[in-house]
Amino acid sequence: MSDLVDRVKSVLPSVRADLGALVRIESVWADPARRDEVRRSAEMVSKLLSEAGFDDIRTVSEGGAPAVIARHPAPPGAPTVLLYAHHDVQPEGDVSQWASAPFEPTERDGRLYGRGTADDKAGIATHLAAIRAFEGDLPVGVTVFVEGEEESGSPSLGALLGAHRDLLSADVIVIADSMNWTTAVPSLTVSLRGLADCVVEVATLDHGLHSGMWGGVVPDAVSALVRLLASLHDDDGNVAVEGLHEGSAADVEYPPEQVREETGMLAGVTQIGTGSVAERLWAKPAITVIGIDTTPIATSSNTLIPTARAKVSMRVAPGGDAGRHLEALTRHLEQHAPWGARVTVTPGDLGQPYAIDATGPVYDAARTAFRQAWGTDAIDMGVGGSIPFIAEFAAAFPDAKILVTGVEDPATQAHSINESLDLGVLERAATSEALLLEALGALHR
Ligand code: BES
Ligand code: MN
Ligand code: MN
Repeated sequence: MSDLVDRVKSVLPSVRADLGALVRIESVWADPARRDEVRRSAEMVSKLLSEAGFDDIRTVSEGGAPAVIARHPAPPGAPTVLLYAHHDVQPEGDVSQWASAPFEPTERDGRLYGRGTADDKAGIATHLAAIRAFEGDLPVGVTVFVEGEEESGSPSLGALLGAHRDLLSADVIVIADSMNWTTAVPSLTVSLRGLADCVVEVATLDHGLHSGMWGGVVPDAVSALVRLLASLHDDDGNVAVEGLHEGSAADVEYPPEQVREETGMLAGVTQIGTGSVAERLWAKPAITVIGIDTTPIATSSNTLIPTARAKVSMRVAPGGDAGRHLEALTRHLEQHAPWGARVTVTPGDLGQPYAIDATGPVYDAARTAFRQAWGTDAIDMGVGGSIPFIAEFAAAFPDAKILVTGVEDPATQAHSINESLDLGVLERAATSEALLLEALGALHR
């Protein structure tokens, strides 16, 4: 074991450099102007895997972003492990708010800053480090699958699966795209929420009107939209849509003060919803308004606005069905229009939630690997975020054991400004993954 741990340590500087090179590529699939960047990042992933000794590598796409599939055959009798990560990243947002340029990897105080340093190019780095540590002598079959449209809801994943099912089939699937309890305490992610979103348009008029002449009698669309959106929560901040699924959460100590520290909520702002923090984050639905289109203040005038739109994003608790939840949300929006306003709901993306029964020898091996690499036991945790890939692969390969790991920590700020990766976490995550592969090889011998 200590040999392998040392070898992970010795490959880390090169992995850290390759992670930097990946971060320099602006692989934002959601931005049509940067699709060539996504192609370049797929090329780099493929080149890195080729250098790591994989002979069977292909870049595939089924009408969507390029994904890389690299395969190393299993030694006789050994299982095949699929290592998943995604090479696309979220848009950088307001560049002026970043402390260093988003696509210029920058190290400060043991953390590497930049878009995708954690979510999820560090997942790729973790797999590379674990693979390189074996110096070509892998104890299990390894298939690396790095997709390029996870942040867009993996719309062509089903088609990719259909076209390459044989290449992707595995006994164990390791998804390095989640988080750890802290930078010192690892986690095994045992549940993720799903996602369902839509755009709601509210119309009160077919053209704008002088707000002085008609205001007070004729309703404007923004005021109507705001009232409609307000109906999505009750006064305590619980989701007020009927017919949504609620489950129960892993039994962990997660005090509200910890949430305050981890998120930087402004002083005086209260937390919403009832139930424990873990229940609210992992096992209950949540609704967020993530965008509004209406007249910007700069071009506003004293005019009653005729139409306004909002994008509403809902998290679906494990056990619920994302499609049903979108229907319930749509019904709610259609039925709560104030003042008879016209409401049109355009359905958006769906991603199913997933809960894992983390018992049995594969999960025991993972827990042992975590303990050896981190020096402390892993906590079973749920996460509020979504990885639609998981439910799709679980349905396609019902016998595969799914392990959700990752390198994020509460300070990572994924999707926000100043995203970062704790470099100590990268080392511990890579070490536990290498130890896991070794243990899985031994398990079947
Ligand atoms: N890595 C995240 C999922 C995640 C979030 C895991 C928080 C653990 C904690 C992933 O890249 C992500 O952001 N997923 C999207 C999915 C969506 C686009 C369908 C999400 O959760 O919004
Ligand atoms: Mn991710
Ligand atoms: Mn993400």
